[in-house]
Amino acid sequence: MRPNILLPLFVIVTYVDGAIFKLQNQTHIHCIDENKDSTILIYPPAETLESSSNLLEDKKWFNDDWEEKETKNLPTAHILDSRWQEIPVIKTNYLHFDLFRSVSISVYTPKNFEIFIYSDTQASYITPPIENNYWNHFTIISTDKDIITIHNNKTIRKQVNFQPKYVVFKSENETFLKIHHDRLVRWSNTTSKQPTVLTVPPTESPCMILYSSLCPNCTLHIHHSRKGKKTIHATAQEPDMIEYWQTTEVEIDPNRENQITFYRKNMHGQSSGYWAIEFQLCKKTNMVSYKINSEETPNFTCETLIKTKRKAYEGNIVEPCSSGRFGTYCNITCESVLGKEFSQCEKCQICVNETYCYCASGYKGEKCSKFCEAGKWGPSCRKQCEDCSGCDPKTGKCHHPFGKPLGRGQRNKSTAIVLLLTTVAMSMTTVCAVLLICLRLAILYRRDFSAILFQ
Ligand SMILES: *[C@@H]1O[C@H](CO)[C@@H](O)[C@H](O)[C@H]1NC(C)=O
Ligand SMILES: *[C@@H]1O[C@H](CO)[C@@H](O)[C@H](O)[C@H]1NC(C)=O
Ligand SMILES: *[C@@H]1O[C@H](CO)[C@@H](O)[C@H](O)[C@H]1NC(C)=O
Ligand SMILES: *[C@@H]1O[C@H](CO)[C@@H](O)[C@H](O)[C@H]1NC(C)=O
Ligand SMILES: *[C@@H]1O[C@H](CO)[C@@H](O)[C@H](O)[C@H]1NC(C)=O
Ligand SMILES: *[C@@H]1O[C@H](CO)[C@@H](O)[C@H](O)[C@H]1NC(C)=O
Ligand SMILES: *[C@@H]1O[C@H](CO)[C@@H](O)[C@H](O)[C@H]1NC(C)=O
Ligand SMILES: *[C@@H]1O[C@H](CO)[C@@H](O)[C@H](O)[C@H]1NC(C)=O
Repeated sequence: MRPNILLPLFVIVTYVDGAIFKLQNQTHIHCIDENKDSTILIYPPAETLESSSNLLEDKKWFNDDWEEKETKNLPTAHILDSRWQEIPVIKTNYLHFDLFRSVSISVYTPKNFEIFIYSDTQASYITPPIENNYWNHFTIISTDKDIITIHNNKTIRKQVNFQPKYVVFKSENETFLKIHHDRLVRWSNTTSKQPTVLTVPPTESPCMILYSSLCPNCTLHIHHSRKGKKTIHATAQEPDMIEYWQTTEVEIDPNRENQITFYRKNMHGQSSGYWAIEFQLCKKTNMVSYKINSEETPNFTCETLIKTKRKAYEGNIVEPCSSGRFGTYCNITCESVLGKEFSQCEKCQICVNETYCYCASGYKGEKCSKFCEAGKWGPSCRKQCEDCSGCDPKTGKCHHPFGKPLGRGQRNKSTAIVLLLTTVAMSMTTVCAVLLICLRLAILYRRDFSAILFQ
Protein backbone atom coordinates (compact mmCIF):
# COMPACT_ATOMS: atom_id res chain seq x y z
CA MET A 1 0.00 0.00 0.00
CA ARG A 2 1.36 3.43 -0.96
CA PRO A 3 -0.07 6.43 0.81
CA ASN A 4 0.29 9.96 -0.56
CA ILE A 5 0.70 9.29 -4.26
CA LEU A 6 1.45 12.58 -5.95
CA LEU A 7 -0.41 12.69 -9.24
CA PRO A 8 1.84 14.15 -11.93
CA LEU A 9 0.20 17.16 -13.54
CA PHE A 10 0.22 17.06 -17.33
CA VAL A 11 0.14 20.41 -19.04
CA ILE A 12 0.00 20.55 -22.80
CA VAL A 13 2.13 23.43 -23.94
CA THR A 14 1.97 24.33 -27.60
CA TYR A 15 5.27 25.64 -28.76
CA VAL A 16 5.83 29.26 -29.50
CA ASP A 17 8.71 29.99 -31.77
CA GLY A 18 10.00 32.93 -29.83
CA ALA A 19 7.77 35.66 -28.52
CA ILE A 20 8.85 39.28 -28.68
CA PHE A 21 9.00 41.44 -25.61
CA LYS A 22 9.62 45.12 -25.23
CA LEU A 23 11.29 46.63 -22.22
CA GLN A 24 10.85 50.36 -22.10
CA ASN A 25 11.68 53.17 -19.72
CA GLN A 26 11.81 56.90 -20.38
CA THR A 27 15.17 56.84 -22.14
CA HIS A 28 15.62 53.40 -23.72
CA ILE A 29 13.65 50.69 -25.40
CA HIS A 30 14.87 47.11 -25.75
CA CYS A 31 13.26 44.69 -28.17
CA ILE A 32 13.84 41.12 -27.04
CA ASP A 33 13.15 38.02 -29.08
CA GLU A 34 13.24 34.56 -27.51
CA ASN A 35 14.54 33.06 -30.75
CA LYS A 36 18.31 32.86 -30.61
CA ASP A 37 18.86 33.68 -34.22
CA SER A 38 16.18 35.94 -35.48
CA THR A 39 16.50 39.50 -36.51
CA ILE A 40 14.60 42.19 -34.72
CA LEU A 41 13.08 45.23 -36.30
CA ILE A 42 11.92 48.38 -34.65
CA TYR A 43 9.17 50.38 -36.31
CA PRO A 44 9.66 53.10 -37.25
CA PRO A 45 13.23 52.15 -38.27
CA ALA A 46 15.66 53.56 -35.80
CA GLU A 47 18.65 55.49 -37.05
CA THR A 48 20.77 54.77 -34.02
CA LEU A 49 20.59 51.22 -32.79
CA GLU A 50 22.69 49.59 -30.14
CA SER A 51 22.58 45.84 -30.49
CA SER A 52 24.23 43.25 -28.32
CA SER A 53 26.92 42.11 -30.73
CA ASN A 54 29.09 39.34 -29.39
CA LEU A 55 31.72 38.59 -31.99
CA LEU A 56 34.46 36.07 -31.42
CA GLU A 57 37.49 38.28 -31.31
CA ASP A 58 40.15 36.22 -29.51
CA LYS A 59 39.89 33.20 -31.79
CA LYS A 60 43.02 31.69 -33.37
CA TRP A 61 43.48 29.55 -36.48
CA PHE A 62 45.98 26.76 -37.23
CA ASN A 63 46.79 25.55 -40.76
CA ASP A 64 44.85 28.57 -41.81
CA ASP A 65 44.12 28.51 -45.54
CA TRP A 66 41.01 30.69 -45.38
CA GLU A 67 41.08 34.18 -46.85
CA GLU A 68 39.33 37.28 -45.56
CA LYS A 69 37.01 38.54 -48.24
CA GLU A 70 34.26 41.13 -48.62
CA THR A 71 30.84 39.67 -49.29
CA LYS A 72 30.40 41.88 -52.36
CA ASN A 73 32.95 39.60 -54.08
CA LEU A 74 30.87 36.53 -53.34
CA PRO A 75 27.83 35.16 -55.16
CA THR A 76 25.71 34.99 -51.99
CA ALA A 77 22.33 36.50 -51.23
CA HIS A 78 21.47 39.03 -48.54
CA ILE A 79 21.97 38.41 -44.85
CA LEU A 80 18.73 37.83 -43.00
CA ASP A 81 20.10 36.28 -39.81
CA SER A 82 20.99 38.06 -36.59
CA ARG A 83 24.00 39.77 -38.21
CA TRP A 84 21.47 41.91 -40.01
CA GLN A 85 20.95 43.78 -36.73
CA GLU A 86 24.51 45.07 -36.83
CA ILE A 87 24.13 46.70 -40.24
CA PRO A 88 23.69 50.43 -39.70
CA VAL A 89 20.62 52.19 -41.01
CA ILE A 90 21.20 55.11 -43.35
CA LYS A 91 18.77 57.54 -44.92
CA THR A 92 19.08 58.49 -48.55
CA ASN A 93 17.32 58.32 -51.93
CA TYR A 94 20.29 57.43 -54.14
CA LEU A 95 22.99 54.74 -53.98
CA HIS A 96 25.59 53.81 -56.57
CA PHE A 97 27.62 50.57 -56.52
CA ASP A 98 30.34 49.00 -58.64
CA LEU A 99 29.10 45.49 -59.35
CA PHE A 100 31.69 42.75 -58.81
CA ARG A 101 29.83 39.59 -57.86
CA SER A 102 26.89 40.83 -55.83
CA VAL A 103 25.23 43.83 -54.23
CA SER A 104 22.63 43.55 -51.46
CA ILE A 105 20.55 46.22 -49.81
CA SER A 106 17.43 46.39 -47.65
CA VAL A 107 15.00 49.25 -48.14
CA TYR A 108 12.19 50.48 -45.94
CA THR A 109 9.01 52.08 -47.31
CA PRO A 110 10.38 52.90 -50.71
CA LYS A 111 8.07 54.95 -52.89
CA ASN A 112 8.79 54.83 -56.58
CA PHE A 113 11.78 52.64 -56.00
CA GLU A 114 13.95 51.79 -59.03
CA ILE A 115 16.98 49.70 -59.77
CA PHE A 116 19.20 50.74 -62.67
CA ILE A 117 21.83 48.22 -63.84
CA TYR A 118 24.23 49.36 -66.54
CA SER A 119 27.58 49.24 -68.32
CA ASP A 120 28.97 51.50 -71.06
CA THR A 121 26.94 49.70 -73.71
CA GLN A 122 23.98 48.07 -71.94
CA ALA A 123 21.38 49.24 -69.43
CA SER A 124 18.28 47.93 -67.72
CA TYR A 125 15.65 49.41 -65.41
CA ILE A 126 13.71 47.45 -62.84
CA THR A 127 10.74 48.82 -60.93
CA PRO A 128 10.41 45.99 -58.45
CA PRO A 129 7.23 44.99 -56.65
CA ILE A 130 7.54 46.34 -53.14
CA GLU A 131 5.81 45.88 -49.83
CA ASN A 132 5.15 49.24 -48.25
CA ASN A 133 5.86 49.82 -44.58
CA TYR A 134 8.10 46.81 -44.56
CA TRP A 135 11.75 46.01 -45.18
CA ASN A 136 12.41 44.83 -48.74
CA HIS A 137 15.63 42.97 -49.53
CA PHE A 138 17.34 43.13 -52.89
CA THR A 139 20.36 41.28 -54.22
CA ILE A 140 21.86 41.70 -57.68
CA ILE A 141 24.16 38.79 -58.52
CA SER A 142 26.50 38.82 -61.46
CA THR A 143 27.49 35.35 -62.62
CA ASP A 144 29.85 34.79 -65.53
CA LYS A 145 27.24 35.75 -68.11
CA ASP A 146 23.94 36.44 -66.36
CA ILE A 147 22.44 38.95 -63.99
CA ILE A 148 20.03 37.70 -61.35
CA THR A 149 17.86 40.09 -59.35
CA ILE A 150 16.42 38.76 -56.10
CA HIS A 151 13.65 40.41 -54.10
CA ASN A 152 13.20 38.91 -50.63
CA ASN A 153 13.31 35.19 -51.44
CA LYS A 154 12.34 35.36 -55.10
CA THR A 155 14.30 35.74 -58.30
CA ILE A 156 12.40 38.53 -60.00
CA ARG A 157 14.59 38.83 -63.10
CA LYS A 158 17.27 36.85 -64.88
CA GLN A 159 19.08 38.60 -67.71
CA VAL A 160 21.20 36.45 -70.00
CA ASN A 161 24.33 37.68 -71.74
CA PHE A 162 24.41 40.87 -69.77
CA GLN A 163 27.59 42.01 -68.04
CA PRO A 164 26.97 45.33 -66.36
CA LYS A 165 29.47 47.19 -64.19
CA TYR A 166 27.26 49.37 -62.01
CA VAL A 167 24.04 49.30 -60.00
CA VAL A 168 22.01 52.31 -58.89
CA PHE A 169 19.17 52.20 -56.36
CA LYS A 170 16.90 55.21 -56.50
CA SER A 171 13.71 56.37 -54.81
CA GLU A 172 11.72 59.57 -55.13
CA ASN A 173 11.90 60.37 -51.42
CA GLU A 174 14.49 59.71 -48.79
CA THR A 175 14.16 56.23 -47.37
CA PHE A 176 15.79 54.04 -44.73
CA LEU A 177 18.39 51.65 -46.12
CA LYS A 178 20.81 48.99 -45.00
CA ILE A 179 23.79 48.19 -47.22
CA HIS A 180 24.90 44.56 -46.91
CA HIS A 181 28.19 44.46 -48.73
CA ASP A 182 30.52 45.97 -46.20
CA ARG A 183 31.49 42.91 -44.20
CA LEU A 184 34.53 40.67 -44.19
CA VAL A 185 34.02 36.92 -44.01
CA ARG A 186 36.40 33.98 -44.12
CA TRP A 187 36.34 32.46 -47.54
CA SER A 188 37.95 29.74 -49.65
CA ASN A 189 37.56 28.51 -53.23
CA THR A 190 39.24 25.08 -52.81
CA THR A 191 38.60 21.97 -50.74
CA SER A 192 40.81 21.48 -47.66
CA LYS A 193 44.20 19.84 -48.19
CA GLN A 194 44.42 19.53 -44.42
CA PRO A 195 41.84 20.44 -41.82
CA THR A 196 41.97 23.92 -40.31
CA VAL A 197 41.66 24.25 -36.55
CA LEU A 198 39.94 27.11 -34.78
CA THR A 199 40.81 27.72 -31.13
CA VAL A 200 38.13 29.48 -29.12
CA PRO A 201 39.35 30.76 -25.75
CA PRO A 202 37.29 30.17 -22.57
CA THR A 203 34.11 32.22 -22.77
CA GLU A 204 30.90 32.56 -20.80
CA SER A 205 28.83 31.29 -23.70
CA PRO A 206 27.85 27.62 -24.13
CA CYS A 207 27.72 27.87 -27.92
CA MET A 208 28.92 29.55 -31.03
CA ILE A 209 26.85 30.58 -34.04
CA LEU A 210 28.42 29.69 -37.36
CA TYR A 211 27.10 31.51 -40.43
CA SER A 212 27.92 29.81 -43.70
CA SER A 213 27.26 29.99 -47.40
CA LEU A 214 28.50 27.17 -49.65
CA CYS A 215 28.45 26.31 -53.34
CA PRO A 216 25.69 23.83 -54.36
CA ASN A 217 28.06 20.84 -54.41
CA CYS A 218 30.00 21.82 -51.32
CA THR A 219 29.86 20.57 -47.74
CA LEU A 220 31.55 21.80 -44.61
CA HIS A 221 32.51 19.34 -41.86
CA ILE A 222 32.89 20.62 -38.32
CA HIS A 223 34.38 18.63 -35.49
CA HIS A 224 34.65 19.75 -31.88
CA SER A 225 37.24 17.77 -29.91
CA ARG A 226 34.77 17.05 -27.09
CA LYS A 227 31.32 17.89 -28.46
CA GLY A 228 31.14 15.92 -31.70
CA LYS A 229 30.57 16.44 -35.43
CA LYS A 230 28.27 18.35 -37.78
CA THR A 231 28.05 18.55 -41.56
CA ILE A 232 26.62 21.54 -43.38
CA HIS A 233 25.15 21.16 -46.88
CA ALA A 234 24.26 23.96 -49.25
CA THR A 235 20.66 25.18 -49.30
CA ALA A 236 20.65 25.59 -53.08
CA GLN A 237 19.94 22.30 -54.84
CA GLU A 238 20.64 23.33 -58.43
CA PRO A 239 23.76 25.04 -59.73
CA ASP A 240 21.85 28.18 -60.73
CA MET A 241 19.88 28.50 -57.49
CA ILE A 242 20.89 31.21 -55.07
CA GLU A 243 22.68 30.19 -51.93
CA TYR A 244 21.37 31.72 -48.72
CA TRP A 245 23.30 32.17 -45.53
CA GLN A 246 22.77 29.39 -43.05
CA THR A 247 22.98 29.49 -39.28
CA THR A 248 24.40 26.55 -37.34
CA GLU A 249 24.79 26.33 -33.58
CA VAL A 250 28.05 24.73 -32.45
CA GLU A 251 28.17 23.64 -28.84
CA ILE A 252 31.31 24.70 -26.94
CA ASP A 253 32.65 24.26 -23.43
CA PRO A 254 32.40 27.49 -21.52
CA ASN A 255 35.38 28.26 -19.26
CA ARG A 256 37.67 25.96 -21.30
CA GLU A 257 39.67 26.32 -24.45
CA ASN A 258 37.84 24.78 -27.44
CA GLN A 259 39.34 23.25 -30.55
CA ILE A 260 37.07 23.12 -33.58
CA THR A 261 38.22 21.52 -36.82
CA PHE A 262 36.91 22.55 -40.25
CA TYR A 263 37.09 20.45 -43.37
CA ARG A 264 35.86 21.71 -46.76
CA LYS A 265 34.66 18.99 -49.15
CA ASN A 266 33.01 18.74 -52.55
CA MET A 267 30.42 15.99 -53.00
CA HIS A 268 31.57 15.28 -56.56
CA GLY A 269 35.26 15.08 -55.77
CA GLN A 270 36.10 18.37 -57.46
CA SER A 271 38.56 20.61 -55.66
CA SER A 272 36.84 23.88 -56.59
CA GLY A 273 33.80 25.59 -55.10
CA TYR A 274 33.27 28.25 -52.48
CA TRP A 275 32.90 28.31 -48.74
CA ALA A 276 32.21 31.46 -46.74
CA ILE A 277 31.94 31.51 -42.94
CA GLU A 278 31.61 33.90 -40.02
CA PHE A 279 31.19 33.46 -36.23
CA GLN A 280 29.47 34.91 -33.23
CA LEU A 281 29.09 33.68 -29.69
CA CYS A 282 25.55 32.70 -28.76
CA LYS A 283 23.53 35.28 -26.98
CA LYS A 284 20.98 34.41 -24.34
CA THR A 285 18.31 36.32 -26.19
CA ASN A 286 18.28 38.51 -29.21
CA MET A 287 18.11 42.11 -28.31
CA VAL A 288 18.10 45.44 -30.05
CA SER A 289 18.24 48.60 -28.02
CA TYR A 290 17.21 52.03 -29.06
CA LYS A 291 18.01 55.19 -27.22
CA ILE A 292 15.07 57.54 -27.26
CA ASN A 293 16.37 61.02 -27.82
CA SER A 294 13.25 63.09 -28.04
CA GLU A 295 11.09 63.88 -25.03
CA GLU A 296 7.86 62.82 -26.67
CA THR A 297 8.36 59.12 -27.02
CA PRO A 298 7.10 57.89 -30.36
CA ASN A 299 5.23 54.62 -30.62
CA PHE A 300 7.64 51.81 -31.30
CA THR A 301 6.76 48.36 -32.51
CA CYS A 302 9.11 45.41 -32.16
CA GLU A 303 8.95 42.74 -34.84
CA THR A 304 11.09 39.93 -36.16
CA LEU A 305 12.30 39.99 -39.73
CA ILE A 306 11.95 36.29 -40.39
CA LYS A 307 8.41 35.68 -39.33
CA THR A 308 7.84 32.28 -37.85
CA LYS A 309 4.43 30.75 -37.49
CA ARG A 310 3.04 31.63 -34.11
CA LYS A 311 0.87 29.07 -32.47
CA ALA A 312 -1.36 29.71 -29.54
CA TYR A 313 0.65 29.53 -26.40
CA GLU A 314 0.33 28.95 -22.77
CA GLY A 315 2.75 30.18 -20.23
CA ASN A 316 3.37 33.22 -18.19
CA ILE A 317 2.50 35.87 -20.70
CA VAL A 318 -0.96 36.49 -19.33
CA GLU A 319 0.15 35.98 -15.74
CA PRO A 320 3.30 38.10 -15.52
CA CYS A 321 6.40 36.53 -14.02
CA SER A 322 7.61 37.93 -10.74
CA SER A 323 11.07 38.56 -9.29
CA GLY A 324 13.03 40.01 -12.17
CA ARG A 325 12.07 37.56 -14.91
CA PHE A 326 9.94 37.59 -18.01
CA GLY A 327 9.39 35.64 -21.19
CA THR A 328 7.09 32.81 -22.20
CA TYR A 329 8.94 30.53 -19.79
CA CYS A 330 9.93 33.27 -17.34
CA ASN A 331 13.55 32.47 -18.08
CA ILE A 332 14.76 35.79 -19.44
CA THR A 333 16.24 37.75 -16.57
CA CYS A 334 16.07 41.51 -16.31
CA GLU A 335 19.72 41.46 -15.32
CA SER A 336 20.78 39.79 -18.57
CA VAL A 337 19.09 42.56 -20.53
CA LEU A 338 19.41 45.65 -18.33
CA GLY A 339 22.40 44.83 -16.14
CA LYS A 340 22.79 44.49 -12.38
CA GLU A 341 21.45 47.96 -11.64
CA PHE A 342 18.00 46.97 -12.88
CA SER A 343 17.88 43.36 -11.73
CA GLN A 344 14.10 43.57 -11.09
CA CYS A 345 13.33 45.53 -14.30
CA GLU A 346 12.89 48.53 -12.01
CA LYS A 347 11.04 51.44 -13.60
CA CYS A 348 10.58 49.48 -16.81
CA GLN A 349 7.43 48.54 -18.64
CA ILE A 350 7.44 44.98 -19.92
CA CYS A 351 5.26 44.70 -23.03
CA VAL A 352 3.97 41.40 -24.36
CA ASN A 353 2.39 43.03 -27.39
CA GLU A 354 1.41 46.53 -28.43
CA THR A 355 -1.57 46.65 -26.10
CA TYR A 356 -0.55 44.61 -23.09
CA CYS A 357 2.17 45.97 -20.83
CA TYR A 358 2.87 45.70 -17.15
CA CYS A 359 5.34 47.22 -14.69
CA ALA A 360 8.09 45.28 -13.01
CA SER A 361 7.27 43.68 -9.67
CA GLY A 362 6.88 46.35 -6.97
CA TYR A 363 6.07 49.26 -9.29
CA LYS A 364 3.01 50.83 -10.83
CA GLY A 365 1.95 53.94 -12.70
CA GLU A 366 2.34 55.12 -16.27
CA LYS A 367 6.10 55.47 -15.95
CA CYS A 368 6.35 52.48 -13.58
CA SER A 369 8.06 54.69 -11.01
CA LYS A 370 5.46 54.57 -8.22
CA PHE A 371 5.89 52.01 -5.47
CA CYS A 372 3.05 49.69 -4.52
CA GLU A 373 0.73 50.86 -1.75
CA ALA A 374 0.64 48.87 1.49
CA GLY A 375 -0.99 45.48 1.12
CA LYS A 376 -0.19 45.14 -2.62
CA TRP A 377 2.68 43.56 -4.46
CA GLY A 378 3.73 42.00 -7.77
CA PRO A 379 3.91 43.15 -11.40
CA SER A 380 1.99 46.45 -11.65
CA CYS A 381 1.07 45.90 -7.94
CA ARG A 382 -1.82 43.68 -9.04
CA LYS A 383 -1.46 41.14 -6.24
CA GLN A 384 -2.81 41.31 -2.71
CA CYS A 385 -0.55 40.43 0.24
CA GLU A 386 -1.76 37.12 1.63
CA ASP A 387 -3.07 36.99 5.21
CA CYS A 388 -0.82 39.80 6.37
CA SER A 389 -1.12 43.54 6.44
CA GLY A 390 2.30 44.31 4.94
CA CYS A 391 4.46 42.34 2.52
CA ASP A 392 7.50 42.82 0.29
CA PRO A 393 6.21 44.65 -2.83
CA LYS A 394 8.59 42.67 -5.07
CA THR A 395 8.25 39.14 -3.69
CA GLY A 396 5.02 39.18 -1.69
CA LYS A 397 6.77 37.82 1.43
CA CYS A 398 5.04 38.90 4.62
CA HIS A 399 6.89 41.33 6.87
CA HIS A 400 5.74 39.44 10.03
CA PRO A 401 8.83 37.62 11.35
CA PHE A 402 7.00 34.30 11.77
CA GLY A 403 5.29 34.47 8.42
CA LYS A 404 1.52 34.56 8.66
CA PRO A 405 -0.01 35.86 11.89
CA LEU A 406 -2.01 33.11 13.59
CA GLY A 407 -5.62 32.48 12.73
CA ARG A 408 -8.32 31.46 15.25
CA GLY A 409 -8.14 27.69 14.79
CA GLN A 410 -4.37 27.74 14.82
CA ARG A 411 -4.39 29.79 18.04
CA ASN A 412 -6.46 27.12 19.87
CA LYS A 413 -4.21 24.38 18.61
CA SER A 414 -1.02 26.13 19.69
CA THR A 415 -2.46 27.08 23.08
CA ALA A 416 -3.05 23.37 23.65
CA ILE A 417 0.53 22.64 22.63
CA VAL A 418 1.88 25.32 24.99
CA LEU A 419 -0.26 23.96 27.85
CA LEU A 420 0.92 20.42 27.21
CA LEU A 421 4.57 21.49 27.10
CA THR A 422 4.17 23.50 30.34
CA THR A 423 2.59 20.53 32.08
CA VAL A 424 5.38 18.20 30.94
CA ALA A 425 8.04 20.68 32.04
CA MET A 426 6.41 21.21 35.42
CA SER A 427 6.04 17.49 36.07
CA MET A 428 9.66 16.90 35.14
CA THR A 429 10.81 19.68 37.51
CA THR A 430 8.79 18.09 40.33
CA VAL A 431 10.25 14.64 39.62
CA CYS A 432 13.77 16.10 39.59
CA ALA A 433 13.20 17.99 42.86
CA VAL A 434 11.94 14.80 44.56
CA LEU A 435 14.89 12.81 43.23
CA LEU A 436 17.35 15.45 44.46
CA ILE A 437 15.83 15.43 47.95
CA CYS A 438 15.98 11.64 48.05
CA LEU A 439 19.60 11.64 46.96
CA ARG A 440 20.53 14.23 49.58
CA LEU A 441 18.76 12.17 52.28
CA ALA A 442 20.51 9.05 51.07
CA ILE A 443 23.94 10.70 51.35
CA LEU A 444 23.10 12.10 54.79
CA TYR A 445 21.89 8.84 56.27
CA ARG A 446 24.15 6.41 54.39
CA ARG A 447 26.83 6.27 57.04
CA ASP A 448 24.33 5.73 59.78
CA PHE A 449 22.50 2.98 57.91
CA SER A 450 25.74 1.18 57.04
CA ALA A 451 26.90 1.60 60.62
CA ILE A 452 23.73 -0.03 61.84
CA LEU A 453 23.86 -2.81 59.21
CA PHE A 454 27.53 -3.79 59.44
CA GLN A 455 28.20 -3.37 63.08
C1 LIG B 1 14.70 32.23 -47.91
O1 LIG B 1 14.91 30.89 -48.33
C2 LIG B 1 15.93 30.23 -47.62
C3 LIG B 1 16.15 28.88 -48.24
O2 LIG B 1 15.13 28.51 -49.08
C4 LIG B 1 15.53 30.12 -46.16
O3 LIG B 1 16.55 29.50 -45.43
C5 LIG B 1 15.30 31.51 -45.62
O4 LIG B 1 14.84 31.43 -44.30
C6 LIG B 1 14.27 32.25 -46.46
N1 LIG B 1 14.17 33.61 -46.00
C7 LIG B 1 13.03 34.23 -45.81
C8 LIG B 1 13.10 35.64 -45.35
O5 LIG B 1 11.96 33.68 -46.03
C1 LIG C 1 8.19 63.05 -51.52
O1 LIG C 1 8.78 64.32 -51.59
C2 LIG C 1 7.97 65.32 -52.20
C3 LIG C 1 8.77 66.59 -52.26
O2 LIG C 1 10.12 66.36 -52.25
C4 LIG C 1 6.69 65.50 -51.39
O3 LIG C 1 5.85 66.45 -52.03
C5 LIG C 1 5.97 64.17 -51.25
O4 LIG C 1 4.85 64.30 -50.42
C6 LIG C 1 6.90 63.10 -50.71
N1 LIG C 1 6.22 61.83 -50.72
C7 LIG C 1 6.17 61.05 -49.65
C8 LIG C 1 5.43 59.78 -49.86
O5 LIG C 1 6.68 61.31 -48.57
C1 LIG D 1 40.85 30.92 -56.02
O1 LIG D 1 41.12 32.25 -55.58
C2 LIG D 1 42.42 32.70 -55.85
C3 LIG D 1 42.58 34.09 -55.30
O2 LIG D 1 41.92 34.24 -54.11
C4 LIG D 1 42.65 32.70 -57.35
O3 LIG D 1 43.98 33.07 -57.62
C5 LIG D 1 42.37 31.32 -57.93
O4 LIG D 1 42.43 31.35 -59.32
C6 LIG D 1 40.99 30.85 -57.51
N1 LIG D 1 40.80 29.47 -57.95
C7 LIG D 1 39.70 29.05 -58.53
C8 LIG D 1 39.66 27.61 -58.89
O5 LIG D 1 38.75 29.79 -58.75
C1 LIG E 1 28.17 20.17 -59.18
O1 LIG E 1 28.46 18.87 -59.60
C2 LIG E 1 27.94 18.53 -60.87
C3 LIG E 1 28.26 17.08 -61.13
O2 LIG E 1 29.60 16.79 -60.89
C4 LIG E 1 28.58 19.46 -61.94
O3 LIG E 1 28.02 19.16 -63.19
C5 LIG E 1 28.29 20.91 -61.57
O4 LIG E 1 28.97 21.78 -62.46
C6 LIG E 1 28.75 21.20 -60.16
N1 LIG E 1 28.34 22.54 -59.77
C7 LIG E 1 29.17 23.45 -59.28
C8 LIG E 1 28.57 24.80 -58.97
O5 LIG E 1 30.35 23.23 -59.05
C1 LIG F 1 13.71 29.23 -21.92
O1 LIG F 1 13.05 27.99 -21.88
C2 LIG F 1 12.71 27.47 -23.16
C3 LIG F 1 11.89 26.21 -22.97
O2 LIG F 1 12.43 25.39 -22.00
C4 LIG F 1 13.99 27.23 -23.96
O3 LIG F 1 13.65 26.76 -25.25
C5 LIG F 1 14.77 28.54 -24.09
O4 LIG F 1 15.99 28.33 -24.75
C6 LIG F 1 15.02 29.13 -22.71
N1 LIG F 1 15.61 30.45 -22.87
C7 LIG F 1 16.62 30.89 -22.12
C8 LIG F 1 17.06 32.31 -22.38
O5 LIG F 1 17.15 30.22 -21.26
C1 LIG G 1 0.79 56.43 -30.11
O1 LIG G 1 -0.31 55.55 -30.22
C2 LIG G 1 -1.51 56.04 -29.61
C3 LIG G 1 -2.56 54.96 -29.69
O2 LIG G 1 -2.39 54.14 -30.79
C4 LIG G 1 -1.93 57.34 -30.32
O3 LIG G 1 -3.09 57.84 -29.72
C5 LIG G 1 -0.80 58.35 -30.22
O4 LIG G 1 -1.13 59.51 -30.95
C6 LIG G 1 0.50 57.78 -30.77
N1 LIG G 1 1.59 58.71 -30.54
C7 LIG G 1 2.48 59.06 -31.48
C8 LIG G 1 3.55 60.01 -31.04
O5 LIG G 1 2.45 58.61 -32.60
C1 LIG H 1 -1.91 41.12 -25.97
O1 LIG H 1 -1.61 40.17 -24.95
C2 LIG H 1 -2.69 39.97 -24.05
C3 LIG H 1 -2.19 39.06 -22.94
O2 LIG H 1 -1.55 37.92 -23.44
C4 LIG H 1 -3.87 39.39 -24.81
O3 LIG H 1 -4.94 39.19 -23.93
C5 LIG H 1 -4.26 40.33 -25.93
O4 LIG H 1 -5.29 39.77 -26.72
C6 LIG H 1 -3.08 40.65 -26.82
N1 LIG H 1 -3.44 41.67 -27.78
C7 LIG H 1 -3.06 41.62 -29.05
C8 LIG H 1 -3.46 42.78 -29.89
O5 LIG H 1 -2.40 40.70 -29.50
C1 LIG I 1 16.51 53.21 -18.69
O1 LIG I 1 17.21 52.01 -18.90
C2 LIG I 1 18.58 52.17 -19.22
C3 LIG I 1 19.17 50.78 -19.38
O2 LIG I 1 18.43 50.01 -20.14
C4 LIG I 1 19.30 52.92 -18.15
O3 LIG I 1 20.64 53.12 -18.54
C5 LIG I 1 18.62 54.25 -17.89
O4 LIG I 1 19.24 54.88 -16.80
C6 LIG I 1 17.15 54.02 -17.59
N1 LIG I 1 16.49 55.31 -17.45
C7 LIG I 1 15.75 55.62 -16.38
C8 LIG I 1 15.12 56.98 -16.42
O5 LIG I 1 15.60 54.86 -15.45
